[in-house]
Amino acid sequence: MRRIAISVAASTMTLSLAGCGVLNATGDPSDASPTKGNDMTVGVLMPEETNTRYAEFDYPDIKNRISELTRKQGRTEYANAGADSKKQVSQMEKMIGEKVDVIILDAVDSHAIASTVKKAKDAGIPVIAYDRLAEGPIDGYVSFDNELVGEVQARTLLEALGSKADSSDKIVMVNGSPTDPNAKQFKEGALSELSGKVTIAESFDTDKWSPDVAQANMTRAINSIGKDNIAAVYSANDAMAGGIVKAFNNAGVTDLPPITGQDAELAAVQRVVSGEQYMSVYKPYPDEAEAAAEMAVAKVQGHDIQFDALTRDRVDSPTDKDIPAQLVTVNALTRKSIKSTVIADGIYTVDDICTAAYKADCAAIGLK
Ligand code: GAL
Repeated sequence: MRRIAISVAASTMTLSLAGCGVLNATGDPSDASPTKGNDMTVGVLMPEETNTRYAEFDYPDIKNRISELTRKQGRTEYANAGADSKKQVSQMEKMIGEKVDVIILDAVDSHAIASTVKKAKDAGIPVIAYDRLAEGPIDGYVSFDNELVGEVQARTLLEALGSKADSSDKIVMVNGSPTDPNAKQFKEGALSELSGKVTIAESFDTDKWSPDVAQANMTRAINSIGKDNIAAVYSANDAMAGGIVKAFNNAGVTDLPPITGQDAELAAVQRVVSGEQYMSVYKPYPDEAEAAAEMAVAKVQGHDIQFDALTRDRVDSPTDKDIPAQLVTVNALTRKSIKSTVIADGIYTVDDICTAAYKADCAAIGLK
């Protein structure tokens, strides 16, 4: 838990640095414009809709920040691929054809998009990889610390098992999409904490992060392991945790084992309140989205010093080395930390979470 405490401190620090203007290097519209002025079009490509974060937080935050940075003169063009990698290729090709000034890309399939990234590069359009590390010649990358996400999930799961945890305790791992490089990092981070402490009885990768696929795999695991023999479920995200809860309910299990998640989706936060899901991971979307907007505008306007200040980390993709990057830290969300995460950051209000069905549970944990 020590590391989680550190992440909270680091996140607060990030926010206060932003408040002092340090992260706002490109934030002053008055210093705009050597290469290009504020009149620009930023293409924004998001990967899917099942998971609500992209349409509800990432895109609106990027759009607002670009508008602020360009004195309302910059435009965004948005496309969501609905988890279809071919569709994303054509969405990106359309943006290249329209000669947008820069592209922020959250890839459905980080490998399959590489040749389109190359096309953008050849057309002189910089590409900022967003959240998932796209292959090909990208100009920068912004994401969360994805291994830390997996570690935080696993540590919180072990904490839920408590002192009675035993290396023979059977855990089911429901991992993310095999075309998403983050999924691999979440899994590696989680395994680094779980290995040797519990038994991974079954482990699945989930095509397109689909909640239905996750539910079907969980049903299979319940049948083979036995519904009373599963100590906990590692679910890589919230949408899949929803499918996993359904699988247990359909099997007649009312007293659910601890289930993890990620993304702090409203439905998941409510499940945490009611005890159906043990935890989620809150990723401060405004920090990631604003950094992407700032990087994109700095790139188009040729503000290299600001761009460097925004990208002090370095990452390697399978095709490129030393990519300038910014990795934002994350926090565990449990019943104890709903107030200090999603409510403190204004993502949800208590009223959003504590609707009629959750009033009593909210009162029981002092959420008001
Ligand atoms: C990951 C992302 C997560 C979650 C997941 C499912 O790449 O980092 O936050 O959204 O995709 O879409």
